Amino acid sequence: MCGIFGYVGNRTAQPLLLDGLRTLEYRGYDSAGIFVPGYGVVKSVGPIVNLAEKITEPIDGTSGIAHTRWATHGAPTEENAHPHRDMSGSVWVVHNGIIENFREIKEGLTVQGVTCDTQTDTEVLAKLIGTLYAGDLYAAVREALRRVRGTYGLAVIAEDDPHQIVVARMGSPIVLGLGSDGNFISSDSSALLAHTKDVVYLDDGEMAVVSSDGYEVHTVAGQKRQKTPEKVEWNVEAIQKDGYDHFMLKEIHEAPQVIKNTIRGRLLIEKGRAKLGGVEGVLDTLNTLHRLQIVGCGSAYYAGQVGRYMLEEYAGLPVEVELASEYRYKRNIPDKHSAVLAISQSGETADTRASLLKAKEQGLLTLGIVNVVGATIARETDAGVYNHAGPEVAVASTKAFISQLTVLVLLTLLLARERGMSQEEGVEIAQALYALPDVLSSVLEQADMIKQIAEKYAAYKDAIFIGRKFHTPIAYEGALKLKEVAYIHAEAYAGGELKHGPIAMLEENFPVIALCPHDDVYEKMVSNIEEVRARKAPLLSFTTSGDSALASLSTDVIEIPKVHPIVQPIVTTVPLHLFAYYVGAARGLDVDRPRNLAKSVTVE
Ligand code: F6R
Repeated sequence: MCGIFGYVGNRTAQPLLLDGLRTLEYRGYDSAGIFVPGYGVVKSVGPIVNLAEKITEPIDGTSGIAHTRWATHGAPTEENAHPHRDMSGSVWVVHNGIIENFREIKEGLTVQGVTCDTQTDTEVLAKLIGTLYAGDLYAAVREALRRVRGTYGLAVIAEDDPHQIVVARMGSPIVLGLGSDGNFISSDSSALLAHTKDVVYLDDGEMAVVSSDGYEVHTVAGQKRQKTPEKVEWNVEAIQKDGYDHFMLKEIHEAPQVIKNTIRGRLLIEKGRAKLGGVEGVLDTLNTLHRLQIVGCGSAYYAGQVGRYMLEEYAGLPVEVELASEYRYKRNIPDKHSAVLAISQSGETADTRASLLKAKEQGLLTLGIVNVVGATIARETDAGVYNHAGPEVAVASTKAFISQLTVLVLLTLLLARERGMSQEEGVEIAQALYALPDVLSSVLEQADMIKQIAEKYAAYKDAIFIGRKFHTPIAYEGALKLKEVAYIHAEAYAGGELKHGPIAMLEENFPVIALCPHDDVYEKMVSNIEEVRARKAPLLSFTTSGDSALASLSTDVIEIPKVHPIVQPIVTTVPLHLFAYYVGAARGLDVDRPRNLAKSVTVE
């Protein structure tokens, strides 16, 4: 949440800063601003395009900091937009996170005669740094951070010292990008790809002084740190729209490639086994687990729920799935034979990370399924698996979600074979995974037909999604996407729950979206569908190809290929995501940037 970008070097900073912000815009789009020493600050409300339009005079400086904001403290006004300044206008700060004791600090500053003009916690921090600044910016920031409680990814620059940027990290990511003609700082590595693949990830409690020809890292306590640069694998093409109207549509269409990338080198088809290098070191512990707890938020949590059905059904491993925002605050009764698996696309979600830290404190083995290489959760877990889904730019998670399900199939296969699944059964699952990219290509060929159906449903105000077993969490995922990108009130229920209350809502303007592939709960779902039909609610069914019985019961049908039950939820998800996308697009919405949302939820 909130994107920070900065540059110090030999090139004109302003276009680099704007481009960096454009790439980071998915992290927040309430307001934006840049500061270039010698040229001052420009801020605007709304997306980066508004900021770009406001820059009418050339800005030639060769360093600067920039920010795109997702509002926490203070309304999304120009006044509250970052960068914020100290009293003298010498020190400028951009910040991602929350300074918890900002009121206390503000009171102290008021006593010293320092006043604040905005409602933000960041301005208080800028003012505090300003009171401590006497020519050594690094020392001033360090001293200020010793007085601060909370979370921050921070970049600070001084008007009278444009040759360095001081950055710091506690809970919100900061990555340094090492370029050939200057150095960059960013909230995430995707915004650095246009300039460099050589990056340095700061860890919590670390600060860096970045100049045009180098960088130095220290802890806030003053200890020097040696950090080895790492290489980012992603390409700059991956963060471009590539002719699609929206990133969300592009990312859904990437499904076949995403599955290929997720399973590459991880399937031993003839042996019916999976190989996950990232968990090999802890395989003995995994084999003796009595229980796995999966934590995540939003779609990642639903992926975990599907994972529970997979792991319990095929590996016989008891699984609990918890919302990370609950797990971290509740009493967890530790058991030395349990482990905690965090699922997170960004690898930065604050609640998911806090759950892991809690599990660590309890001495539990911690695992991760993370998409962004080098992200905090990936680095803080004992072992884990990268998705390799490539950068996900649209705020709504689509390709990462199906990649999470794919990793969960791989993990299930790995553990199931260790726990007694036959080779024959293992081969079936491995083959089903291997065939998945082609299956998904055939599903994507139906995009135009799904668009036409979606356009009919765009006029409704409500919807209920239903499914059973593996498809219960997928129903929740479908409802979440429809809310998120189409602003339609949508709920989800396990099919069997419909008659315990929600059926009271059904009438001819309240559609039901039923996920009903031909599986072992098919007959039960058909009974639910009959109940819906009797209430005259419009019914859209997702069912396996050639199911004429269901077609005759439904208002509309989206057909999906029948595959092995463990991968069926992946096949259902792709048209479900397309459906939500096309409903949102038909309603004329900016599906890539839904209102009030941001990707990478680093605030709690
Ligand atoms: C929904 C969506 C969110 C994320 C959630 C977790 O489309 O994108 O619900 O799934 O914020 O994010 P990560 O996976 O980055 O932890």
